[in-house]
Amino acid sequence: MLQFDTRILSNRPLGPSWMELCLAWDPRAGRPEPGQFLTLRPGRGFDPLLRRPFAFASYLDSGPEGPSASILYQIRGQATGLLADLGPGASLDVLGPLGKGFSLPQTDEVPILAAGGVGLGPVLYLARTLAKAAPEDSTAAPVFLAGFRSAAAIPDIDFPPGTILCTDDGSASYRGTALDWIAHNAPIKGSRIYACGPGAMLAALARLARERAWPAELSAEQWMACGVGACMGCALPRPAGAGYLRACADGPVFSRDDIAWEAGL
Ligand SMILES: Cc1cc2nc3c(=O)[nH]c(=O)nc-3n(C[C@H](O)[C@H](O)[C@H](O)COP(=O)(O)OP(=O)(O)OC[C@H]3O[C@@H](n4cnc5c(N)ncnc54)[C@H](O)[C@@H]3O)c2cc1C
Ligand code: FES
Repeated sequence: MLQFDTRILSNRPLGPSWMELCLAWDPRAGRPEPGQFLTLRPGRGFDPLLRRPFAFASYLDSGPEGPSASILYQIRGQATGLLADLGPGASLDVLGPLGKGFSLPQTDEVPILAAGGVGLGPVLYLARTLAKAAPEDSTAAPVFLAGFRSAAAIPDIDFPPGTILCTDDGSASYRGTALDWIAHNAPIKGSRIYACGPGAMLAALARLARERAWPAELSAEQWMACGVGACMGCALPRPAGAGYLRACADGPVFSRDDIAWEAGL
């Protein structure tokens, strides 16, 4: 983990709902893994005061401008609004990589990946990483499900081959949620679930995975303050009243039974 001032390489819209920010990455910070995140400060003063967390969507060891990392983001409020106004060459205060990322599947498991809302970036990064690692003829290639309200909300990106785009209204590819697809189509034996998305989606996936005895790794998008484990601002309840875990330092990726997912809804 390193805090450093870096340079924006590009910051561009990917359709009406999404932006992609690409940053020069200081190699002394180490390689960000899928599921890990950075925090950044888009302004120079104290407003906004808190750094904002974003998950890595890609990392390149080398390129024309050296190592680089990207995030996919949606404009929500003040910080993301300020971020969207920054252009190539602008400098940004970044801290990362932070948190615990996804672990790799066992060789006999079928990785089923589900992304919802702003959970798209980290799951896309994992999908690309697993697709690259899987031998061409192997069953270990991930099933990647990306969920959106409608076709209009799908960002203009190169999804890995075989991605299933799930839309609530059926306007692209599969009609229904990633959860619906998994409930009806995922192999009963051997599936391993990976997901990032809204709390209700993670709670429902944890329940389904428990019923079917599937291992699951779920990434929580909990509100954060310090982002480095010092304030308990991101605490999530453990099952059976066994205390709390910090999304920023103990996660954001947790195993199925580490968290009482329903309690946060
Ligand atoms: C580990 C982690 C990874 C994240 N990765 C991404 C990412 O890859 N891409 C992305 O677009 N966003 C991501 N987020 C959410 C992102 O941090 C917020 O969208 C951002 O902080 C909003 O800042 P703002 O000042 O623009 O909006 P604020 O004014 O702070 O918030 C505006 C609205 O955004 C929503 N919001 C803000 N933060 C969260 C949150 N943590 N969870 C749920 N809703 C929230 C709320 O509805 C709030 O009312 C991530 C959050 C976490 C904790
Ligand atoms: S945000 Fe401070 S401990 Fe997690």
